[in-house]
Amino acid sequence: MPLYKAGCIKPEIVMDGPPPSTATLAELTALLDPAGQTHLVAQWAQLSPAQQARLAGQIRSLDLQLVRNFRSTLKNQAVRDVSQASSPAAIRLNSEDNPFTPPEARERGAAALARGEVGMLLVAGGQGTRLGFDPPKGLFPIGPVSNRTLFEVIIDRLRAVARRYGRPIPLCIMTSPATTAQTHAYFAENNYLGLEPDDLYFFEQGMLPAVAAESGRVLLAGPGELALAPDGHGGMLAALGNSVGFDNIAARGIRTFFYGQIDNPLLTVCDPEFLGYHLLAGSEFTTQVVRKHDPAERVGVVAALGDHLEIVEYSDLTPEAAAARAADGTLVLWAGNTAVHAFDVAFLTRMSHTSEALPLHLARKSVPYFDPETKQTVEPTEPNAIKFERFIFDLMPSAQNALVVEVERATSFAPVKNAEGAASDTPSSARAAMAALHRAWLEEVGVKVAAEARVEIHPLYALDVDELRSKVAPGLEIRQDTYLRPEGVS
Ligand code: UTP
Repeated sequence: MPLYKAGCIKPEIVMDGPPPSTATLAELTALLDPAGQTHLVAQWAQLSPAQQARLAGQIRSLDLQLVRNFRSTLKNQAVRDVSQASSPAAIRLNSEDNPFTPPEARERGAAALARGEVGMLLVAGGQGTRLGFDPPKGLFPIGPVSNRTLFEVIIDRLRAVARRYGRPIPLCIMTSPATTAQTHAYFAENNYLGLEPDDLYFFEQGMLPAVAAESGRVLLAGPGELALAPDGHGGMLAALGNSVGFDNIAARGIRTFFYGQIDNPLLTVCDPEFLGYHLLAGSEFTTQVVRKHDPAERVGVVAALGDHLEIVEYSDLTPEAAAARAADGTLVLWAGNTAVHAFDVAFLTRMSHTSEALPLHLARKSVPYFDPETKQTVEPTEPNAIKFERFIFDLMPSAQNALVVEVERATSFAPVKNAEGAASDTPSSARAAMAALHRAWLEEVGVKVAAEARVEIHPLYALDVDELRSKVAPGLEIRQDTYLRPEGVS
């Protein structure tokens, strides 16, 4: 996997593979024939040498064993039986039963940040198909007043945390071939969003093929190109180790990673309290959860199964399991996954040497494909293909002292998943959540905000209510849309 340090970004992705002259049809046919996949080279003679080289590279790195076994993998991947699952033990909001208090946790997390022992992992390799926005999702404008992009909103906050604790927080951003080139160009054109190039690492995840569900044939995206998709956020483990390298991470003194996704503008970036619970509990994997609104909400849940904790995707839950209630009437599987985690670096290093750490999940999806017989591109209306993905949260059962920390949804979780018009998780709902949180901060410090005014606060202006209190005069009135930001920031 290539490592692109900011400052030496490659302008385009160069596919691996030998020069065209050495890519022989005979060699590829010998590889593909036993697996029944020779349709992949049916158009060989019509391809340019460059296209031949690219296709040859893609075919050579294809895991034909995986493709061959997909039916049995699919069969073994029945819906998870979580009928025996119980609620996970957790650090609950405002509970006196918690083993640590919020101030204790904040102090521990702040100490790790001040010693420069924390890094951040941001996964931004997804294709964002549901949102229907063509560039990488991180370039989506989300600021309710500022229109700042998801990347800006999250990195502004990272810079504010680093400034507060006086130490840089190295940021590792995962992209995929679907997002790499545009993401790199965006950072280069925008002065790395104010980060020091030495504190920014890009790494690229792998790709896996889409396979026709009926025939088992690997699909083509075009005559000389396989239909490949990023290998899931779980692809992070191998890609991080192979590119940035766990030795380099340890050499920088990073002991703990804060992990977040690009699609949550309320991401509690490197929150000292969350990091503090993780460190005080000696946890190798800590996950942040919100209480589920209702059983049908489409978020994964943390479940206690036997002696371990596990995160189960919503698509893997039966409606009965999702709706099960405890004697006090609360949902058993209440703990909705926000996809925010803290990882012990030594744990990630250990797991990166375990090939079985992250199983493949197979999902039926609609994938457009090139039909080599008719030479037409087909746009299916029904799921026609199987896609393969790994999920990073599958590491949880392997972790020592895994921990669950509950947070308030309004302060922490506003995912941007769906296009405008959908019932939930849209750009509008995320913008409204950001504006509502900042309005609540302003009102808490005595500012009057007109009902129709939208407000937004840049993290370098105020990272939290206490910092805001030191910046604005009580009695201030805000009557129109307002963006509070430090001088010189656009
Ligand atoms: P999702 O699973 O919600 O996928 O990703 P997505 O790509 O954003 O959107 P859809 O499903 O195509 O509509 C959750 C997070 O994981 C990252 C995404 O970039 C997002 O931050 N991700 C997902 C990766 O980095 N790589 C992947 O292969 C998949």
